[in-house]
Amino acid sequence: PAKTEEFTAAAVPAGVYVETVTSVTHYTDRLFRFRMTRPDGFRFRSGEFAMIGLMVEGKPIFRAYSIASPAWGEELEFFSIKVPDGPLTSHLQAIKPGDQVLMRKKPTGTLVLDALTPGKRLYMFSTGTGIAPFASLIRDPETYEKYEEVILTHTAREVAELKYGFDLVEEIRNDELLSEIVGDKLRHYATTTREEFPFRGRITELMANGKLFSDLGLPPLDPAVDRGMICGSSAMLKDTKELLEKAHLVEGANSKPAEFVIERAFVG
Ligand code: A2P
Repeated sequence: PAKTEEFTAAAVPAGVYVETVTSVTHYTDRLFRFRMTRPDGFRFRSGEFAMIGLMVEGKPIFRAYSIASPAWGEELEFFSIKVPDGPLTSHLQAIKPGDQVLMRKKPTGTLVLDALTPGKRLYMFSTGTGIAPFASLIRDPETYEKYEEVILTHTAREVAELKYGFDLVEEIRNDELLSEIVGDKLRHYATTTREEFPFRGRITELMANGKLFSDLGLPPLDPAVDRGMICGSSAMLKDTKELLEKAHLVEGANSKPAEFVIERAFVG
């Protein structure tokens, strides 16, 4: 097929799809979003990640990327950092519509609804590009079938880094079908740590001092009704996990659903 021709010189590895970039949006010098075609027959659960790659000097380079689009989406969306000398992102940040991107065939991940026991309120804690798996889940009707309330927290250094999240929520509100399903169940709580903004501070501080809960008008975390998902840097995962455990929530997994889950494959 025509779309693999560019790879005839360097054979495409087995078990890999070759897809075409359909759009690229740059938010800051550190962040961008891209969308690409979805392979026929490619199935995933909202919140999972896939290995995304490029051929660099004849060799495939892959990195784990949460799929930011929902399971029903026609295209696949990703939200990426740009690392100036990053083996993959230094190249990936230059992609344009029409370019080809590799994706390994098997998606996986722990930030899935099935890894949590039933609850009333789902908290999604994210920093930086850690919002990506939640971008998928907040667009999935199943999330709203399972929870009465969904709280997406997103913390970044600067205001411009929050734009992806604001665009996302706006897109949901403007979508006739989705907005009806979501109703007023979705709360978006965005904060910055290094620039002026109405809401300031690390999510861990805001949980520890109770400001997150007072700002939202919600009670403190309660393992009987609250569920959590965490995605961010390894330091953020560790600190947020500690706070959830202090509130007596237990970490779960696909094989053993419980009260919160963490994505360890993610490196933000
Ligand atoms: P801070 O500015 O105080 O470091 P990064 O862009 O470095 O991945 O960070 C994204 C956001 O995550 C920043 O707002 C950063 O705050 C915050 N952050 C970094 N480390 C932690 C942590 N251990 N717990 C909670 N938030 C963190």
